[in-house]
Formats: sequence, C-alpha cells, structure tokens
Amino acid sequence: MSLQKKMSFSLIISILGVLVVTIVITHITLNSIHQANLKFIFKNSDLKTIWYGLFMNSTKADCTTPHNLFQNKSPGETTSFLSQEFIPDENITCTQTTFVQCEEPKRFKPITNKTFNVALLRRPYWMDAAEFFNFSNCVYSGCNFQDDHIDESTHMVVIQLQHMRDNFTVLRRWPHQLYVATSWEPPSHLRAQFVEDRNSFWNSQFNLTATYRTDSDLFIPYGMLQFKPVPLNKRPDYYSIAQKKSKWVAWFVSSCRSPSKREIYVQQMQKIIPVDIYGRCGAPCQDPKPMCYTSNLLQYRYYLSFENNFCKDYVTEKLFKLFWGGMHVVPVVRGGFDYDTQLPDLTYINAGSFPNATELALFLQKLGQDTSTYAKYLERIDMYRILDGSWPTSIGCKVCKYLHTRKLQSQIDDLKKWISDDVCHAPKDIDQ
Ligand SMILES: *[C@@H]1O[C@H](CO)[C@@H](O)[C@H](O)[C@H]1NC(C)=O
Ligand SMILES: *[C@@H]1O[C@H](CO)[C@@H](O)[C@H](O)[C@H]1NC(C)=O
Ligand SMILES: *[C@@H]1O[C@H](CO)[C@@H](O)[C@H](O)[C@H]1NC(C)=O
Ligand SMILES: *[C@@H]1O[C@H](CO)[C@@H](O)[C@H](O)[C@H]1NC(C)=O
Ligand SMILES: *[C@@H]1O[C@H](CO)[C@@H](O)[C@H](O)[C@H]1NC(C)=O
Ligand SMILES: *[C@@H]1O[C@H](CO)[C@@H](O)[C@H](O)[C@H]1NC(C)=O
Ligand SMILES: *[C@@H]1O[C@H](CO)[C@@H](O)[C@H](O)[C@H]1NC(C)=O
Repeated sequence: MSLQKKMSFSLIISILGVLVVTIVITHITLNSIHQANLKFIFKNSDLKTIWYGLFMNSTKADCTTPHNLFQNKSPGETTSFLSQEFIPDENITCTQTTFVQCEEPKRFKPITNKTFNVALLRRPYWMDAAEFFNFSNCVYSGCNFQDDHIDESTHMVVIQLQHMRDNFTVLRRWPHQLYVATSWEPPSHLRAQFVEDRNSFWNSQFNLTATYRTDSDLFIPYGMLQFKPVPLNKRPDYYSIAQKKSKWVAWFVSSCRSPSKREIYVQQMQKIIPVDIYGRCGAPCQDPKPMCYTSNLLQYRYYLSFENNFCKDYVTEKLFKLFWGGMHVVPVVRGGFDYDTQLPDLTYINAGSFPNATELALFLQKLGQDTSTYAKYLERIDMYRILDGSWPTSIGCKVCKYLHTRKLQSQIDDLKKWISDDVCHAPKDIDQ
C-alpha cells in the first residue's frame, strides 16, 4: 500500500513537471503521388515487414511492396530507403486523431451565470486538490471546489478510485448529484472492493467516468499532441544530432516488477543492444527530481516508454514527455494503447510490431546505424508538441465544462465490468 502511494507520488511528480507544456500526437498524411507507397513504408508494422524482407531474407516484402523501391536491394541492405523516398517536409499534413490535434484549440469564454459545486472524495494525502481543481483558468467559469464536504449544494462528487481501498459510504446522497469515478491508474492498481466484487455498493453508484480511457464520459488523457512543425529554416540539423549520439537505449523506471513484465523484456533486449537503466531499478539519477532523464538523454538514440500494463488506452507521460520539444530521442513504446492508429508515423517505434525483444533490438540496432533514416524520426518527432491543458490538471476544467453543458447522460451500471473486464492482457511477446 505504501509502495502504491509512493509510486503514484513519483508519477505525479513526473507528470507535474511536464504539465506546463502542451501535448499533441498525430497521424500524418503524406500527400502527393507517393502517398500509397509512403503509407506502406512508414507504418511501423510495415517497417517490420520490409525489414524482414531485407534482413531475414523473407520474400514477403517483394510480394507486397507496391513499388519497385526494393528492387535493387539485397538482403540485409537497409540504408536510407526511407530518406530517399521521403516527401519534403512542407508537404506533410496533419490528420487529427483522439490524441492529435492539428490546430490550436480555440478558447472562447462562454458567458454563463450558473455556478456549480464540486466535491472530491478519497483524495490522496499528497495531492494538492486545490491545484487539480483549480478552476481559475478554465474556459467555463463558475465552479467551486468544496474539498470533501458534501451537502445539498453539491452538484458533483468526484471519487479517486485508486485511493478507494476501504469500505466507506457517504452519509447522504441527494438525487441531483452526479458521482464521477476517476482514475489514472490501470485496473490492476485499483484495490477497491468494487473492482473485485460486482455486488459491492459502489459498483452501481457512479453516473460518469473520468479517466484516460477514450470511452470515458470525461476523457482525461495523460497527454495529447499537437502538430506544430518548426519552420524549415529554423530546424536543427537532425542528421548531425543523430550522428553525435554515442549511446543506445535509456530506460528510466521506478517500479521494478510489472504486469507487463517489461523488466524481463528489457533483459532480453540487453542481449543484443545496450540498455542503460536509471531510477529505482537501475543507476541512481544524477538529477532525480522531477525528471531524472533530462541531463543525459541527448546521448541516447532511444527512450523506452514501456508501460507497466497492457491495458486499453493506457499510455502515460512516459511517452508524452518526449514531445516537450528539444528532447531529440526516439520513443520505443510497449503497451495496450493503439499506437498505430493514434500516433503519427515515424514518431515512435512500437515493440508490438515485433514478435519478441530480440527482433525489436535488432531493428533498433540497424536503424541506429542508418543515420539518415534515424534522423528522419527525430525530425518527425520534432513536428509535434504536447498540447497544453493535458491531464491531470485539466480534470477541474473538464468537470466544470461538463456541468455547464451536460451533453452526456451516462450511467455506469456495472463499474467493474467497465473498468476491469477484458480491459488488460498479459504480455504476448515474452516466452514464459
Ligand atoms: C539470404 O539471401 C542471400 C542472397 O540471396 C543468400 O546468399 C543468403 O544465403 C540468404 N540467407 C539466408 C539465411 O537464407
Ligand atoms: C509540395 O506541395 C507543393 C504545393 O502543394 C507542390 O507544388 C509540390 O510539388 C509538392 N512537392 C512534392 C515533392 O510533392
Ligand atoms: C448574468 O448576470 C448579470 C449580472 O447579474 C446579468 O446582467 C446578466 O444578464 C446575466 N446573464 C445571463 C446570461 O443570465
Ligand atoms: C490557480 O491558478 C491560478 C492561475 O494559474 C494561480 O494564480 C493560482 O495560484 C492557482 N491556485 C492554486 C491554489 O493552485
Ligand atoms: C462493506 O460494508 C458493508 C456494510 O457496512 C458490509 O456489509 C460489507 O461486508 C463490507 N465489505 C467489506 C469488503 O468489508
Ligand atoms: C446517478 O446515479 C445514481 C445511482 O445509480 C442514480 O440514482 C441517479 O439517478 C443518477 N443521476 C443522474 C442525474 O443521472
Ligand atoms: C524471436 O522471434 C524470431 C522470429 O519469430 C524467432 O526466430 C526467434 O527465435 C525469437 N527469439 C527468441 C529469443 O524468442
């Protein structure tokens, strides 16, 4: 339990560090005559196919390549096939997804005289609720924070599921009140009674959900990306940044054992490629708070954004913080999030595209040796920034907007089902 708290605490610390910033993720559509080919080439899953064709001597790439791009390549030859065919950057456009916005969100202040009171239950001791529920910068105004005090004037009661470990009840509930279940942890970190027991009291008490899940009533992701290309003449020389990199993979981790078994996966990668581990499970951070990675990250080619669980939509600041700007490192992702539909191509490498850690590590190695292709990843990543107003401080503004607009009429009859049934899975890329 105290470990749990500490973990959440360090998570918060690291998130708060990023919050000032804006997140944005994206899907890029490549225009022009080359579109079909490029789409094929740049999908990570397709990269794997191509890679196999070249590297593993498979004939698959030859059969499926819609283009003679690989005609004169011999097996094992991978150099710069991406960059040769790359469409100039000015022709890259942005396709919006749930996690990527193409334009700056428009912020007009609606005029409304309504006021609403919001209470919060099961606030973790370390959480500065006045900060999370700071309504002063919200587009919608007129919301007040009541902390854990509930009376008839309360419109909404927000409950932190990850800190709901006891069997508590509220003294009285008024019919007009909305109860909101919120959590930023995956189901395995929730110890609450209702998650295990469908017949528990709280299982049927919530009206709305507010989590990182896209199917939440109030969607509160760890981050979103925004397409914000730096003008061509202002871009750094990505090739030379790539060339100067002297180290391979950095992993910053504070929980050493995880349901995703990332620790075992990383051990398997280490047989092929050097992975430097920092944090509680590795070398101490030189600059531990709030972000131990900042000082030496530039030396590394890759940063492991490995989630501790394979759960639906669960993608955390481990990925988004790399889009702060100027990090110049390629995230390698592993988790239950649908990276390939939600994120722009060439901004990450998905472990899910490879059958196991060995194959991923071999790919990283080859890509790292191909400086011009690797540099294209750096360039692509640099076109996206974290979108301002991302989780967790956005929760106050999100609930306030909801209270004013009330478009949704959701009712969670069975919270256990929503939150934990078939939502997570065991790793499929580790031989047990
Ligand atoms: C891969 O292909 C090359 C060229 O066709 C051939 O010389 C080599 O033996 C093949 N390797 C494997 C493992 O099949
Ligand atoms: C890029 O877009 C411009 C304007 O749409 C067009 O004139 C140009 O040919 C495009 N370049 C390539 C390489 O497709
Ligand atoms: C809001 O309150 C002000 C001052 O009491 C009043 O002048 C205005 O008409 C009200 N606006 C609405 C939309 O009710
Ligand atoms: C709420 O936000 C405003 C504006 O950013 C800031 O001035 C104020 O200190 C914040 N209050 C708390 C309690 O964090
Ligand atoms: C929770 O409280 C209720 C009523 O007070 C009781 O019936 C139930 O057994 C308790 N459950 C647990 C898991 O303690
Ligand atoms: C909220 O949920 C409770 C418990 O299920 C229910 O009794 C109540 O009618 C709901 N309120 C609204 C406004 O939907
Ligand atoms: C990884 O996957 C490849 C391709 O499926 C397979 O040949 C290899 O034996 C696997 N390696 C390990 C360590 O499981």
